Amino acid sequence: MKKFNPQKFIKEKIEELRKKIKDKRALIATSGGVDSVTCAVLTRKAIGENLVVFFIDDGLMRENEPEEVRKTFEKMKIDVEIWDVSDNFFESLKGKIDPEEKRKAFRDVFYKTLSQAVRSYSVDFLIQGTIAADIIETQKGIKTQHNVLSQIGINPLLQFGLTIIEPLKELYKNEVRMVAKALGLPKKVYDRKPFPGPGLATRIIGEVTRERVEKIRIATKIVEEELKEKKIFQAFPVLFSDKATGIINDERVLGDIIAIRAVESVDALTAKVVKISFKRLYRIRDRILKEVPGVVKVLYDITPKPPSTIEYV
Ligand code: XMP
Repeated sequence: MKKFNPQKFIKEKIEELRKKIKDKRALIATSGGVDSVTCAVLTRKAIGENLVVFFIDDGLMRENEPEEVRKTFEKMKIDVEIWDVSDNFFESLKGKIDPEEKRKAFRDVFYKTLSQAVRSYSVDFLIQGTIAADIIETQKGIKTQHNVLSQIGINPLLQFGLTIIEPLKELYKNEVRMVAKALGLPKKVYDRKPFPGPGLATRIIGEVTRERVEKIRIATKIVEEELKEKKIFQAFPVLFSDKATGIINDERVLGDIIAIRAVESVDALTAKVVKISFKRLYRIRDRILKEVPGVVKVLYDITPKPPSTIEYV
């Protein structure tokens, strides 16, 4: 296999973006993740202020995430347009328990918001941070990614009058990280662990409500803090929809179950379980039981992908 050369990729992509977009305007919706931030910076280098960097605050992000994203871009002297539309997401997710229905609900609000932004900022191009693994998994029918438009039956030209550009679509995650590093992005960005587009909603089995998101948000913070210095591809908690018996304040109750998952992977297509020491797992368990209200069981998931997937829903 030919060795990937990030500098060459950057040079060629910037040229290509300039040729395609010319003096028109483009918009990128960033999640703060390495794919969309890399795309934003590449496009910014190509077309300057004609790029609008847009952030949808869906209420499903980790603690302080909208502010962190704003700060990351601020350091690169790029303004971010932030829209808080969390009420619309929760309204659309209300009562939905089927994973694909939840994905669809998320996607519908996501694209409705995006199309409003596209109109409001008068752009002709939409830049997307789709990478190779997103496309492969959607083609295989393993899971619909929220961002592979043509494969989820959305024709952007017809529906939004837009041309989509996916500058990273032939790259794998490790190559995107190399590009991010070569672009001079901070370690916080190029080393950032993948976080799914639908955010904490993918870490909740069953209905996604503000209250349940808050529980998984606290648990996520704990897992990330306790495993901070470990090199792990993805590590996160998942909130189950079933309840289990437990004892809280000397009373027998039905409480929540949270599983911890930590996996090693290169491209997310396969994954191995990370061996976390019991000492560390106990620390995570203790903090979850203390800090997340109503939890009575904490489990550790030991299944690889395949046959499992990385996420639960
Ligand atoms: P799975 O669960 O399919 O996940 O093994 C593979 C990789 O994709 C991420 N993932 C998503 N990313 N939108 C995203 O942007 C999604 O709907 C989505 N579902 C899964 C997951 O975190 C892992 O890195």
